[in-house]
Amino acid sequence: MPAWLLYTFVTVILVLSFTALFFFTVTRGALILRAVMPGKPDDADHVYPIYSNMRLIRMIDFQPIIAAILLFQYDRLVSAITAGLLKTNLRGKNVLITSCAFGNVIPRVVTAAVDAGARRVLIADIIKNELDHAQSKLLAYPGKIQFLEENATAMKQADASVDANVIFFLLHELPHHLKGQALKEAGRVLTPGGKLYLAEFHRPDLWVLRALSWTYFKVFEPLGLALWDSHDPLKQLEAMGGFTCERRTVFFGNFQVIVATKNAA
Ligand SMILES: C[S@@+](CC[C@H](N)C(=O)[O-])C[C@H]1O[C@@H](n2cnc3c(N)ncnc32)[C@H](O)[C@@H]1O
Repeated sequence: MPAWLLYTFVTVILVLSFTALFFFTVTRGALILRAVMPGKPDDADHVYPIYSNMRLIRMIDFQPIIAAILLFQYDRLVSAITAGLLKTNLRGKNVLITSCAFGNVIPRVVTAAVDAGARRVLIADIIKNELDHAQSKLLAYPGKIQFLEENATAMKQADASVDANVIFFLLHELPHHLKGQALKEAGRVLTPGGKLYLAEFHRPDLWVLRALSWTYFKVFEPLGLALWDSHDPLKQLEAMGGFTCERRTVFFGNFQVIVATKNAA
């Protein structure tokens, strides 16, 4: 093997290993360490440092990195949500974004909601740094947006107070017993006829993708695998009752967007 090829190969392996180790340290590794450290339990114990430490948030939140993590389907998934919002008459109504996310999803959802007539957009997250970071991307809408430091599993919002609720890749990071609780809260705050837009991982149709995805979840995000079966959000919403749901899967079934419309009482 020529020396340059060997060097290239070794460099690629080192870069990939370093990247994997870095992401493991700032996600699951940190949670494992947190679980064995003394201290009072906290509602945000399941949140990775990449979402709570401002330096890490700023270091990682670059569109190409985020797009790559979602296998370059990010734009498609966000577009499925914004297209739904734009088709809805939200004149004078409230839109909620439950939990922040990296990339341009929040500015795009806010723009779509405002273009559809929304009076106010509420952005809720359990981590204050995430809200501050989201705010830095939303300078164009003074007075329209309210930032709320809130837990998605125990929202302070009144029943039937929002007409659309967007949840982008939150459930796979929640402990299992909180996944259903977050969906219940998402439904509770919706008005009858209001829509929940939920983007998440889904069990891939192709076995190769399924094997890769399974390995990824086992190593980095073990709480996500339950979305494939025991905590399938569509089944959970249907079991809760009171919703008419549609699910669209993309990229060989690897991702899903669920639109759940709350039925009139
Ligand atoms: C939506 S998820 C991650 C999204 C996606 N993986 C990404 O690439 O950005 C991360 C966000 O959820 C927030 N979060 C986690 N648990 C929460 C909870 N119980 N209530 C509200 N926000 C929560 C975190 O603080 C973080 O801002």
